[in-house]
Formats: sequence, C-alpha cells, structure tokens
Amino acid sequence: YEQKRAAMLPVLALVQEHYGYISPEAEQAVAEYFGTTPVHIHEVVTFYELFRTHPEGKHQIRFCRTLSCTLLGGVRAQKYLEEKLGIKPGETTKDGTWTLHEAECLGACEIAPMMQVDGDNYGPLDERKMDTILSSVVSRESSEKKP
Ligand code: FES
Repeated sequence: YEQKRAAMLPVLALVQEHYGYISPEAEQAVAEYFGTTPVHIHEVVTFYELFRTHPEGKHQIRFCRTLSCTLLGGVRAQKYLEEKLGIKPGETTKDGTWTLHEAECLGACEIAPMMQVDGDNYGPLDERKMDTILSSVVSRESSEKKP
C-alpha cells in the first residue's frame, strides 16, 4: 500500500478472521499500529456491517429481507429457520454453531427467497432445502476435521 492507512480494512479483516471478532483490545492494537486513536478504529469497525465487535457463531447466516425475497416467501422461510435454530436475528445458538443476521438485498434476487451461509448463496429456499443446507455445512465441517 502506498499509504499505510490504506491497509486498515485488510488488517481489521485479518484480525477478525483470526480472533472471530474485533475486541476493544484489538482496536487499541490496530490504532497503535496505524498511529491513530482507538475511537477512530472503533468508528471504522462499527461502520462496516461485516465487522463484528463481539464473538459470534462459527457459521454466519445472512437472511435477505428485501422485497423480492419477501414477496417470494422469505418471511415464512426465515420464521422456519428461527424456530429450527431457536434464535432471532442478531443471536447465536447456545452451542455457538450459528449466528443469524437479517440483510438487505444480497444481490441474488434470481434465487429468491435466499440466504447466505458463510458467504455462499442458497435459494430458492424452502424448509427441506434449509434443512439440507444446514446439515451439509455441519457435516462438511466434521469431515474437514477428520485426519
Ligand atoms: Fe433478496 Fe435481492 S431481494 S437477494
């Protein structure tokens, strides 16, 4: 980077990737590195929706709540997911596996209603498909852990 501060977002992304979220201590360290204040770093972190300031689940679900998805059954699909996981948007399951977020249009209206799981798009959603998606994410994770 020509200017050190231009690396601020990538550095914050690395911190989040490593620790799962950006703590006040991490904000302090990043501020020192860039020669700015922790308040400035906190403003950056809280401006971008993708940065997290507290621990969340291993897997992130972003459920689209914008018009195309809503008209094609998104509300009913989201309600099913909330009941299945026992959480509301902004919450994490007790086992720390899933965090559910609502999102504005995720740019995949052609598969409405849709959600993103760990950045991958899935849709059009129905109850069976959501069951399959969640199971496959968990089983993929299990198989990656095996030697
Ligand atoms: Fe849901 Fe665009 S409205 S992806």
